[in-house]
Amino acid sequence: MPQKFDKEKVSVKMESIIKTNQNWIDSVWEKVDKKLSRIAVKSRNKLPYTTINGEHDNRAGAAVAAWTNGFWGGTMWLMYEATGNEEYKKTAERSEELLDDALRQYKKLHHDVGFMWHLTSSANYRLTGNEPSAVRSFFAATSLFSRYNVSGDYIRAWNDTGKKDNSGFSIIDCLMNLPLLYWASDEIGDNRFKKIAMRHMDMAMRDHIRPDGSVNHIVNHEVDKIGVQNVLAGQGYSATSCWSRGLAWAVYGSVISYIHTGKEEYLVTAKKTADYFIEHCQKTDYLPLIDFVAPETPVYYDSTAGVCTACGLLEIAKYVSEEESRYYTEEAIKILKACDEHFCNYEENEDALVLMGSERYPHSETAMQGVHIPIIYGDFFFVEALCKLKGREFLIW
Ligand code: GLY
Repeated sequence: MPQKFDKEKVSVKMESIIKTNQNWIDSVWEKVDKKLSRIAVKSRNKLPYTTINGEHDNRAGAAVAAWTNGFWGGTMWLMYEATGNEEYKKTAERSEELLDDALRQYKKLHHDVGFMWHLTSSANYRLTGNEPSAVRSFFAATSLFSRYNVSGDYIRAWNDTGKKDNSGFSIIDCLMNLPLLYWASDEIGDNRFKKIAMRHMDMAMRDHIRPDGSVNHIVNHEVDKIGVQNVLAGQGYSATSCWSRGLAWAVYGSVISYIHTGKEEYLVTAKKTADYFIEHCQKTDYLPLIDFVAPETPVYYDSTAGVCTACGLLEIAKYVSEEESRYYTEEAIKILKACDEHFCNYEENEDALVLMGSERYPHSETAMQGVHIPIIYGDFFFVEALCKLKGREFLIW
């Protein structure tokens, strides 16, 4: 049976640390709500990814390829749930409409449909009961479900590019798409989606998570039997290094799988990956590097890895001993405070909240595009972490 979230225990275990930091939490929250309530109206007809000269860009036209197009709507649902401000709801609903074009182009759908529709249409359905939103999520879940390779035992990443054969690829990122499958099973009353999600999570523990808690980004599997052909470098420094956002996906993805299934090994995995993240992030004063095993210089940061991991730590803290709970809560807050102090922008001349996100490790001075920029999921996870600290019970995943 899935473990149920026990509000009493949670508040008792995390309460004292949260209370000690309450003034900071409240003051950051006020700045975030002030800024986002304005941007919600200003960027209503956009699906932003980054900012250009302080203005949100718009990836709505590129909805098919843009795996990040659910984060703006997701942020709006988090803010609506926390504040009741209808302006957030209107923008969330509009962003779901803007995604429809992508859902119609079935062959182009990829493994990231969870990021796209679970944060938007599933959130809408849970908060408002809107049936067409549930239908969108069921279509997305069915597409994700169909990517499971039954012989190789993994959910396939990406689609054919016509260049190199990527049919054996799974990526650590995909742990964050599994909640869409858990949701579909819960809604439909049939475990078939959940079973595939658990097969993929079990595969990740076997093939992606290393014994020391670091992770492989891309694993190239045998396609006709269970087995690993090789491990490839992805967005980190190398195939054997540790890309920090990939590790963040593992921390948060593993604890979410634990919450939906109650399988103890998933919590053990979440803690193991979290401990590796914390140990390495402490070395740079809680400002995460893009890769924890890259050369010491040049120094490249990725704010998004920190805020995503903080969300994972705040969930882990709910299911562990009192002592561990205090530890993970405190470490999450240290990451968020470092982000607030060094990476956040609350001014009116910038639409983004969290700066210094990085798409990937840059291997040369001329490859800096997409490095140290605002990225929409940095804002999403910062807001989500604050919602958790404010005691909101809505687990969007
Ligand atoms: N899922 C792709 C990334 O984290 O950049």
